[in-house]
Parts: sequence; structure tokens; C-alpha cells
Amino acid sequence: MISPSHIAIIMDGNGRWGLKKYNDRNKGHYYGLQNINKVIKNCIKLNIKYLTLYTFSTENWNRPKKEIEYLFFLFKFFYQKNFNKINKNNIRIKFIGDLKNIPADLKVIIKKIQEKTKNNNRITVVFAFNYGAKSELINAFKKIHKNKKNKISEQLISNNLYTKNMPDPDILVRTGGEKRLSNFLLWQLSYAELFFIEKSWPDFNFFDLKKIVNKFSGIKRRFGGLDE
Ligand code: IPE
Ligand code: IPE
Ligand code: MG
Repeated sequence: MISPSHIAIIMDGNGRWGLKKYNDRNKGHYYGLQNINKVIKNCIKLNIKYLTLYTFSTENWNRPKKEIEYLFFLFKFFYQKNFNKINKNNIRIKFIGDLKNIPADLKVIIKKIQEKTKNNNRITVVFAFNYGAKSELINAFKKIHKNKKNKISEQLISNNLYTKNMPDPDILVRTGGEKRLSNFLLWQLSYAELFFIEKSWPDFNFFDLKKIVNKFSGIKRRFGGLDE
């Protein structure tokens, strides 16, 4: 049985779930965020070492201001509420994305939680926040250009991404029924196994995760080679 070491999740379908159940998209965001604690616990149970969560994309700025404000309010609330528990449980938190346009109070919390948990090692939970794969690649190329590096290699590009020093995801899960990547980890997902789930994110549970991990264990990953 091969277990995955890194799972990346596009936590989608919150808004539709909230609308259907409570006639309110924001309720979906609220319950979606509650589900993050559970999925972290479940990943620890399955001995997964990296979990990357698509939390807010560079394209999500296209949403109504009110929804964006509520999301930022929820994120702040979530990190404040869970900070001690996360640290006590030996969980390392990392953020990837462009923190430039994030409200100052949220930025302070993000930096603090990242700094305080940096030596924890039970699991690394990566929040992709104001993240877009294209902007990540542009930043990487800019850095490479600035450092006058002419010998371009896969390693050099990987080393200049936000995900430097992290293994690429073995599995990508997208909940909410859509089958697209929405500008998420385009470089890093080049060999991931893709799982598209109909269920919305607030309903995604341990059994859904276990089913995916079991299925993954049975897949022969050839990486371009042949079966023995
Ligand atoms: C994903 O759920 C959460 C964020 C993008 C922040 P959505 O809000 O996209 O939910 P749907 O896809 O509209 O149902
Ligand atoms: C992707 O979901 C972003 C996050 C889950 C944070 P979206 O709902 O924003 O993606 P599209 O707009 O359907 O492609
Ligand atoms: Mg969506």
C-alpha cells in the first residue's frame, strides 16, 4: 500500500451549499471553514504529511465586495480561534500566495501563526491565500531574472516558487462538481492523481478522504515509464 504524502484540495461548492440549505452563500463559507479542522485531523489519522488548501484565489477578487469582506472576517476569526490548538497539536502552518493586498490585521495573524508553528512537524498545512499559479510563476521568473540566473532548469524554477522545499502533491481533490483547476498549482500538479467529487466542501468527510486514499494506493503511477 502506497500512501500519499501530500494532498491538495480545491475546497469548492461552499456558496451553492449555503444557498441550497440556508438560502445564504455565506453560511456555506462558515461551515466550509469549520470543516478544515476536521480534514486536518483526518489527514493526521491517515499519516499524510502535507495538506494544501485552496482558500482564496487571485481571481476571487472578482466577487462582490461584501462576500470578500465576509470571507476575510471568517479567516481572521478561524486563525484566532484555532491558533493555540493548532500549535499544541504540533501542526505547522504555512501560507502561499501574494500577501500584498491582504488587509493588515489578517496579515499580522498570518505572519504570527506561520512564525510560531514553523518548527512543528506532525503535518504541514498550507493555506493558498490570494494564490494564483500564473502569478506564482511570474514571480518566480522575475526572481530568476533579477538574480541573473541564465541556466534555467526544473529545479531552479521549483526553488523559486512559493512551494520551495515541499514535495509536489500526489493527489488533487476538487469538491463541488466542477472539473477544472482554476489556476491552482499548475506546475506542482503535473503528475498528481486527480479526484473530482460531486459533494460540496462542507459535506466532505473522513470516508470520502479514506476512499480517495485507498483508490490512490491502487493506482500504478508510471511517470512516463512502463509497468514492470
Ligand atoms: C469555494 O466555494 C470557496 C471560495 C472560493 C472562497 P465557492 O464560494 O466557490 O462556492 P460555489 O462554487 O460558488 O458553490
Ligand atoms: C476555486 O474555486 C478557488 C477556491 C476554492 C479558493 P472558484 O469557485 O473560485 O473557481 P471557479 O470560479 O469556479 O473556477
Ligand atoms: Mg466555486
